[in-house]
Amino acid sequence: MPDARIEEVDKLLKVLIVDDEVSQRTGLAGMVNAWGMVAETASEGGQALDKVSSFSPDVIVTDLNMPGVDGYRFLEKLQESGDAPPTIVLTGFGNIETGVRTVHELGAFWFLEKPVQPNVLQVLLRRAAAHNNLRTTNRILERQLLYKGSLGEMVGTSPRMQEIFVLLQQAGPTNACVLISGESGTGKEMVARTLHALSPRRQGPFFAINCAALPETLIESELFGHEKGAFTGASERRAGCFEVAQHGTLLLDEIGEMPALTQAKLLRILEDSKVRRLGGKTEFEVDVRVLAATNKVPEEAVRGGQLREDLYYRLNVFHIHLPPLRDRKEDIPPVTEFLLGELNHKHNCKVSDVSPDVLEAFQLHNWPGNVRELRNVLERAVILTGEGTIDMKHLPAFLQNRSTTVPVPAPPDADPSDLVQFSIGTTVEEAEKGLILRTLEHTKNNKTRAAEILGISLKTLHNKLKEYGSKEVTANM
Ligand SMILES: Nc1ncnc2c1ncn2[C@@H]1O[C@H](COP(=O)(O)OP(=O)(O)OP(=O)(O)O)[C@@H](O)[C@H]1O
Ligand SMILES: [Mg+2]
Repeated sequence: MPDARIEEVDKLLKVLIVDDEVSQRTGLAGMVNAWGMVAETASEGGQALDKVSSFSPDVIVTDLNMPGVDGYRFLEKLQESGDAPPTIVLTGFGNIETGVRTVHELGAFWFLEKPVQPNVLQVLLRRAAAHNNLRTTNRILERQLLYKGSLGEMVGTSPRMQEIFVLLQQAGPTNACVLISGESGTGKEMVARTLHALSPRRQGPFFAINCAALPETLIESELFGHEKGAFTGASERRAGCFEVAQHGTLLLDEIGEMPALTQAKLLRILEDSKVRRLGGKTEFEVDVRVLAATNKVPEEAVRGGQLREDLYYRLNVFHIHLPPLRDRKEDIPPVTEFLLGELNHKHNCKVSDVSPDVLEAFQLHNWPGNVRELRNVLERAVILTGEGTIDMKHLPAFLQNRSTTVPVPAPPDADPSDLVQFSIGTTVEEAEKGLILRTLEHTKNNKTRAAEILGISLKTLHNKLKEYGSKEVTANM
């Protein structure tokens, strides 16, 4: 590399120097600055870890014996973080064995004996920086691989899913709250599991609680736990979800169904990470990453009073909205292929693919139950087919008869894009569900307006939606 370019690289290089001896660290920092690099210093590992976050060094140089968090523990912590910059260890004179051990066991980039020889340090810093650049390039390449259509168990080649995959990669390794929204069956829980799998908490538990499935009286005890005798029937002390999910991830599903008072308590926990069991006297610290999901439009849930505004802002550090399958039909072939592999494995079958007719029928269908509905259709077809190709005859009737659609007479002033069509073979139950969901989409989830249009009471609409939420979309099975 010509010298001019080396100097240019050096100018950008950020070096963190960790040493408890003031003269050592200021001496090294002076040297590093004189080479045109940027130096920051810390006197022990704890302070250094903070600087790793705030200063984002390209390379770290650290002493081993220090008060507070020593060099060994510091290296361990860096390794745990999973994405640490290369670290050069300074060892006492004649202590090569220790140096080698830090490289082999603690992931150090290299070691140098004290007193440090300036020219050796300079070369090593550049080499470590080049190594770091290579790692960054690898990460970018890895990310580009994602663009080929999957992230973990999630599949999708549509631009919207690809954007979501990138966002998942960015938000995954952090501790930030993520609000996940999308219709039923779009993959909200999958997103939550993927975020957990991408985080340093992946070895810890993943726990999901469905706020809609619990009666109001039980939800707080489920979330926060209770002491013996806290209420009638509390015969034993019980740990809540926050305790169960300690050092892991907690998904609060259907957050809009959580009672307002519980939402207020949750907000406090998110602020100070402390939980008190029902009937308990003391608070204890919890280390849990909280994710929340809703099949409502979050902003509307706030306007409608189902979601507290302050909680919404606290949860919405990242917002991931999963589009319905009908708005990303290019995802149908890759998702089908992926699900076939999974279902073959589950049912010990050897189905190779689906026929072009089947794929066309899939493209024409509106998938009100989204990916879950597609999975159910495929599961039935895989079992019926056993091996070879899935044909039209393996599909439920409503998908077989796509060609004969029955337009429902529309009011004279209706917008053609609001036309709802059903194919012969659709059951009354499915047609009703399709119409209700489509109307809700039209009213942007305004249930009062939807009930008016549909000519049913708001209560009936709520009951129907509850029924759809609790029942898997079984599509003519
Ligand atoms: N992108 C995807 N790739 C592969 N499979 C998917 C994808 N999205 C969803 N699925 C599958 O669809 C099914 C439903 O996903 P999930 O339970 O995450 O949906 P959800 O949005 O949480 O639904 P609900 O609102 O009803 O709880 C799962 O079986 C999952 O395996
Ligand atoms: Mg779910």
